[in-house]
Amino acid sequence: MTQPSGTGTGPVTAGEGGRPTASRTLNQRLFSLFVPAFRAVGGIFFDRKRLVGIYFDDSTVGWKWVLRGILFQKILGFNRNISWPVSPLNTVSISRNLEFDPDDINMFNEMSGKYFQNFAAPIRIGKGTWIASNVGIITANHDPTDLNRHLPGQEVVIGEACWIGMNAMILPGVHLGPRTIVGAGSVVTRSFPEGDCVVVGNPARLVRTLAPGQADDGLTPK
Ligand SMILES: CC(C)(COP(=O)(O)OP(=O)(O)OC[C@H]1O[C@@H](n2cnc3c(N)ncnc32)[C@H](O)[C@@H]1OP(=O)(O)O)[C@@H](O)C(=O)NCCC(=O)NCCS
Repeated sequence: MTQPSGTGTGPVTAGEGGRPTASRTLNQRLFSLFVPAFRAVGGIFFDRKRLVGIYFDDSTVGWKWVLRGILFQKILGFNRNISWPVSPLNTVSISRNLEFDPDDINMFNEMSGKYFQNFAAPIRIGKGTWIASNVGIITANHDPTDLNRHLPGQEVVIGEACWIGMNAMILPGVHLGPRTIVGAGSVVTRSFPEGDCVVVGNPARLVRTLAPGQADDGLTPK
């Protein structure tokens, strides 16, 4: 999965309060001068509040997604109404009802086959969570008595620093606690709100609990 590469001139470090530090290269300083202009232009097509964070502030990666989004979303119509860049290979139902951290916007722009079905209820995704290809996160089933309609939606909550393996399905109403790992191909039909665990299979069952700190959430300073 792509980590922001900056401008390709070395590591980007932010000082206290996000201020640039002396380790920023000249190229990175020059690049950051253009970011407000990129954001102004990108804001014509997308919600500029979404065009922030590690993929935009010191990196060209997010801006490439913006360019791709202008072509595929705004001109060709894939995910047209979504207010942030989303790959044409992934699908988001609507812009509202999806909570995620700006630094995790890569989940919509990398890999393929992901479906965030959020038109009926919110999907809330905690900071630092990774979602692999072909994952479905579903908030509403079809009404079995009338397949042209949906049953009322149920919110899906995925905690911080979870990892959802390839081809997993998260079904309506599921809540996963922080640092939950969902095995590839699993169908999660019920909640595991405690977190710090590995769940696998169809229906997903608990196979392992992780001691606090055993799962590296990537959020805790070392
Ligand atoms: C969930 C996962 C991380 C577990 O790894 P692990 O902790 O090493 O688990 P183990 O291999 O020890 O397996 C524990 C048990 O769960 C079962 N199991 C593991 N993964 C499973 C899966 N995806 N589906 C069903 N059962 C699974 C094993 O067969 C084993 O069962 P057993 O105790 O009856 O023999 C791993 O199996 C997995 O699915 N990884 C996802 C990979 C992926 O999607 N990557 C995408 C790129 S980001």
